Amino acid sequence: MSEFDTLTAAAKLARENAHAAYSNFRVGAALRAISGRIFGGCNVENSTYGLTICAERVALFKAISEGERGFDAIAVVTDTDSLTPPCGACRQLIWEFCGDVLVILANLKGKSEILRVRELFPRPFDSSHL
Ligand code: THU
Repeated sequence: MSEFDTLTAAAKLARENAHAAYSNFRVGAALRAISGRIFGGCNVENSTYGLTICAERVALFKAISEGERGFDAIAVVTDTDSLTPPCGACRQLIWEFCGDVLVILANLKGKSEILRVRELFPRPFDSSHL
């Protein structure tokens, strides 16, 4: 039993709602706030392809739009043998709103890995450059 089991379970649950009609690649994410609240998200695709939103950003925007600030971990779950890290756009936004939080990558077979945002996203652009 890991301290991230609950968060990973929330990401798995969110993944069940993925709307991946075009790629058939279903992703679930769950973002944990310092308050303890967990926000789930899934990828939502559409016919333009380009307006697709990733699971991570859905979870993040749900949290931000509900007034939550301050996070400590995000889990990403897919049904692939090699674990799925957040895309570049999501890394940028996770960095901006969450900072150097823990990123838990997991699949449905129980494989998992824990990283920090900084490992995935070295030398980020952010407001310190403005
Ligand atoms: N996707 C995510 O939701 N999160 C990721 O970390 C990688 C990619 C989605 C976007 C699209 O719906 C599908 O996976 C294939 O790229």
